[in-house]
Amino acid sequence: MEHPFLTNRFIVKDMGVIQKIASSGIRNVYIDTERGKDLETARTQEEIHEHLQKTIESEILANKKEHKPVAVTEEVNRARKLYSETTSVIRNLMKDARLGKQVNVTALAPMAENIVGSVFRNSHALTGISRIKTKDEYTFMHCVSVAGLMATFAKEMNMSDEIVYQVAMGGLIHDIGKTMMPDNILNKPGKLDEDEMNIMRTHVDHSFLILKEEKGISEAAMDVTMRHHERVDGTGYPYGLKGDEISTIGKMSAIVDVYDALTSVRVYKDAWEPTFTMRKMLEWSDHHFDKQLVHAFIRCLGIYPVGSVVELESGLIGVVLDQSSDLLKPKIRVIYNKKKKFREMAHDVELEKIDFDRIVSFANPLDYDLDITPYLQ
Ligand SMILES: [Fe+2]
Repeated sequence: MEHPFLTNRFIVKDMGVIQKIASSGIRNVYIDTERGKDLETARTQEEIHEHLQKTIESEILANKKEHKPVAVTEEVNRARKLYSETTSVIRNLMKDARLGKQVNVTALAPMAENIVGSVFRNSHALTGISRIKTKDEYTFMHCVSVAGLMATFAKEMNMSDEIVYQVAMGGLIHDIGKTMMPDNILNKPGKLDEDEMNIMRTHVDHSFLILKEEKGISEAAMDVTMRHHERVDGTGYPYGLKGDEISTIGKMSAIVDVYDALTSVRVYKDAWEPTFTMRKMLEWSDHHFDKQLVHAFIRCLGIYPVGSVVELESGLIGVVLDQSSDLLKPKIRVIYNKKKKFREMAHDVELEKIDFDRIVSFANPLDYDLDITPYLQ
């Protein structure tokens, strides 16, 4: 209907027709070279093939370049922006779901891709930033953190790039059923009682109901959504699955979900220190989690993850800025002197490169009235 020709395929017999084509606004035509002459300057089939091949190769190269590892300091600003953008996409999506509107899960695909890119460049940037949450925004921020942690974990497990992407997507949607929880339960400023807990447990079924009509949700993403509350000893929900009844991705998602919940500040509790949380999770892995997987998870975050606070033998307190080849000797930013009880002028120390000081334990920044947020920026 947009041009004066009755058919899209016709033989061009003279210049008059060419002028008519051009004046009707048509900018491109395909020439059937079996029925007529090609352009003299046209590429041969071989040249076209070669050109396509080169384009594909340069795209692969560009993608790889995107994933080229960089230092935490280089990735951290990009990761922070990505974290807040993704949080607002999730916030809007969950609000839509709450209003009964159709949820557009495909809008999350580019966010999941960016998360994967960030994780490949330097996973410690996004996982470090994930620690900084606000109580009110926890529900949304938790989804972004779980996406980053799942991608990091899957990468550590040498899973394919496609699976790394799918589990990131799974993290973003894994708690979507929470939109169906009553407000007074979802945002209760205290611990839930048994009845409220039972209602809260139905969020997994609600996620299923919301997502079952959605196209393009992978099995891996669904696994994260449906299994993150299952426990290997069968005490989880909604199905009480045991051991290998839960897939590896399902078991990984349980570890990530609990780790992020515990290391986050909530309306009823402060954030736990990452190193302490990992130690606790290792204890619980006799019952709740797959021990091998908890070990693998600790390996990918480091014993002292980026964003955690440590105490040195000298009494200095510092925030972990980056990992090194030795998990016990990360790069830190010293911010406080415990012995002298005063704030140090912030300075960086690469523990791997010195032999006069070492980490003796993790520390809780609240004990020293310290806010670590500015040090991760
Ligand atoms: Fe959940």
